[in-house]
Amino acid sequence: MSEDGAFSVEPWCVRERGLDLDLLASSESLFALSNGHIGLRGNLDEGEPSGIPGTYLNSFYEARPLPYAEPGYGYPESGQTVVNVTNGKLIRLLVDDTPLDVRYGRLLGHERVLDLRAGTLTRHVDWKSPAGSRIRVRSTRLVSFTQRAVAAIEYEVEVVDKTVRLIVQSELVANEPDPQRSGDPRVAAALENPLVAVEQDVHDRGMTLLHRTRSSGLQMAAGMDHLVEAVGEVSAASTATEDWARTTFVCNLEQGQRLRIVKLLAYGWSNLRSTSALRDQVAAALTGARHTGLDELLAEQRAYLDEFWDGADVRVEGDPEIQQAVRFALFHVLQTGARAEGRCLPAKGLTGPGYDGHTFWDSEAYLLPVLTYTQPQAAADALRWRHSTLDLAKERAAALGLRGAAFPWRTIRGEECSGYWPAGTAAFHINADIAAAVTRYRSVTGDETLEIEVGLELLVETARLWTSLGHCDVEGAWHVSGVTGPDEYTAIVNDNVFTNLAAAHNLRSAAEAAERHPSLAGDLGVSVEEMATWRDAASAVTVPYDADLRVHQQSAGFTRLPEFDFEAYGGKYPLLLHAPYFDLYRRQVIKQADLMLAQYWFGHLFDEADKARNLDYYERRTVRDSSLSAAIQAVTAAEVGHLDLAYDYAYEAAQIDLRDIDHNSRDGLHIASLAGVWTALVAGFGGLRQHDGLLSFAPQLPDGITRLRFTIRWRGLWLGVDIEPDRATYTLRNGRDFSLSFRHNEKHVTVTTGEPVTERISKRPPMLPRPPQPPGREPIHRGNARAQRLQPMGQAMEEEHSAGLSTSTFR
Ligand code: BGC
Repeated sequence: MSEDGAFSVEPWCVRERGLDLDLLASSESLFALSNGHIGLRGNLDEGEPSGIPGTYLNSFYEARPLPYAEPGYGYPESGQTVVNVTNGKLIRLLVDDTPLDVRYGRLLGHERVLDLRAGTLTRHVDWKSPAGSRIRVRSTRLVSFTQRAVAAIEYEVEVVDKTVRLIVQSELVANEPDPQRSGDPRVAAALENPLVAVEQDVHDRGMTLLHRTRSSGLQMAAGMDHLVEAVGEVSAASTATEDWARTTFVCNLEQGQRLRIVKLLAYGWSNLRSTSALRDQVAAALTGARHTGLDELLAEQRAYLDEFWDGADVRVEGDPEIQQAVRFALFHVLQTGARAEGRCLPAKGLTGPGYDGHTFWDSEAYLLPVLTYTQPQAAADALRWRHSTLDLAKERAAALGLRGAAFPWRTIRGEECSGYWPAGTAAFHINADIAAAVTRYRSVTGDETLEIEVGLELLVETARLWTSLGHCDVEGAWHVSGVTGPDEYTAIVNDNVFTNLAAAHNLRSAAEAAERHPSLAGDLGVSVEEMATWRDAASAVTVPYDADLRVHQQSAGFTRLPEFDFEAYGGKYPLLLHAPYFDLYRRQVIKQADLMLAQYWFGHLFDEADKARNLDYYERRTVRDSSLSAAIQAVTAAEVGHLDLAYDYAYEAAQIDLRDIDHNSRDGLHIASLAGVWTALVAGFGGLRQHDGLLSFAPQLPDGITRLRFTIRWRGLWLGVDIEPDRATYTLRNGRDFSLSFRHNEKHVTVTTGEPVTERISKRPPMLPRPPQPPGREPIHRGNARAQRLQPMGQAMEEEHSAGLSTSTFR
């Protein structure tokens, strides 16, 4: 974690002053731009130095064998790894005969700004070459939300003190060398030269490189085009080889003169279209972008984001760090899902190669709840993608001897890619998470069409899976045995509460949806008897409870397992890198919120006293070795009145990448944790819940946050929620004469357009004292964190110049 915060705290941007090369790899993830289709890591324009070079196209992957020391039946044989595709970000600059490289000469100023409203990454460089020529570079990069195949870079060089010759080489480079990777299983498998050249197309102003993967049979095209402006003459020449293409611009500039180049980029890939069709698609995208022009691309980008923020912004008063973090988080969640359109939402978005670029349950359980309330069409697209993989999921279920569909634990294209079945295939709850995302989408948006299009079939096939995974005992209780719940330190268990309740919800939802669409359900072969089986299983579901301790058991027998000896591991976390799974699995140690997730999602099935005791019990055993944990712990802590603890967890989720808390942001951002920031604030302090289509709020602010405002989309309406310490005001923002009913705590409230309703808040004191965590796993105490010295704000670059900073790595 960067102790003093490498970025200044500002409400609408993330600004890095100076350049710390030790933080380069993680800042490349933070400064990544994406629209869900194209992802550009925030690598420096000149390409070097770099932490991890990265350019990604959603779902463009290479297949590779998954080797096993001891293979077994049903083990997936092929893995999928996201490819670092042709890099179009490269713009190399030579000042006379010296390349701009921040490691040489004198770096007089360096600043990068991720602007969350403009949707751009800007960079300012003030550099003196070893030969003594001073130049300033200003670049602005965007990945367009409105033109899905397009990215653009504006690159402007100003000559500061003497006449120089500038040479700008704008490039496309395929098969960039991959840096050394660590032994951490969470980083990606190394792929050497994954792209095979297919064709190079050199045209008037730019060029296109076409490549294919060796094994997965995918083909891609990357094209570039340029617009150039300078006072005098600029000569240009282009060359291309199999793996690189370059356009070189040369000009002589005098003191104060500028060279401005706009580089337009377009990307496309396909497993079906011909080489010529792909080439033409990229050429068309470039022509479209050129026709639009950079100013208009920037204006479109801002307009797209204005609309997003209008309906999604969360405003936090009293805590500027959380304010910045929640907007940063929402921006990256949007970037992950905005234009994925029929592709998956990877756990790292398109910000880095971590986890091989795979999507997990993170998508349906963490991202889609946020997108459903803020950008519902992106949630619908993600569910369409899941549905597009249904045949593969049915094949997988059949291979496992199960009915219905078994969706993969981790994948890019739909095939199971997890080689470790206890924390992969056995985590069947992903199927119920998908079902929950389907029902949530319908309840929140009121849109029935998605259910007809894809939802019903997803619900039916996942329900069928549960009937073959579960069984009834002699007493008629329904169990699910031998599966793994969300907590990956407790595997292959019986009756995991989260899995059981989610499965029951899946079964019930399938029956209800089938009832709503009898003819469609009939086409899927659903009979009245099958629906009755689903309902019977759901109503007989087993929820293990320890009557002596008066707490729920995360899974049957959990509370009777031996305790974990935390001292023996001397505070070395994450435990997965230091302790054998043998020891983790047989003891009471929890990687991430599991029973707490059940308590949040299915809160109406738990009574208040159980909730408080459960939290107290599981807090002491949860090590948060997954970044998915803190946000859920924030929500459940807030619900039982531990507002300070909730605040600490919300802060941890919020800072996971901005402060690189887990020391692995270099591999890509923790998108689920970022989605969790919204969840911690809106469901934690806002108390938002939605059970069976009933909307409710139970707001309470922790000391330190003085006001919290957010908007959610509910059935076509925009509901604004404004929380102050003693009151909450609800406002309906749409048109005229609409009304919406919901609960504020236990009270039934109706709000009408133009007539906000204000309700009183009284804090609910916690039933039990604040619980401790395992040694060394206390969350950062928000009070202490706030006392830490933060980067001063508002310092202009000029001040840095006058301070005479001259090393290439300074902050
Ligand atoms: C967590 C999983 C998660 C995965 C990807 C793991 O560490 O335990 O729950 O799906 O990371 O984010």
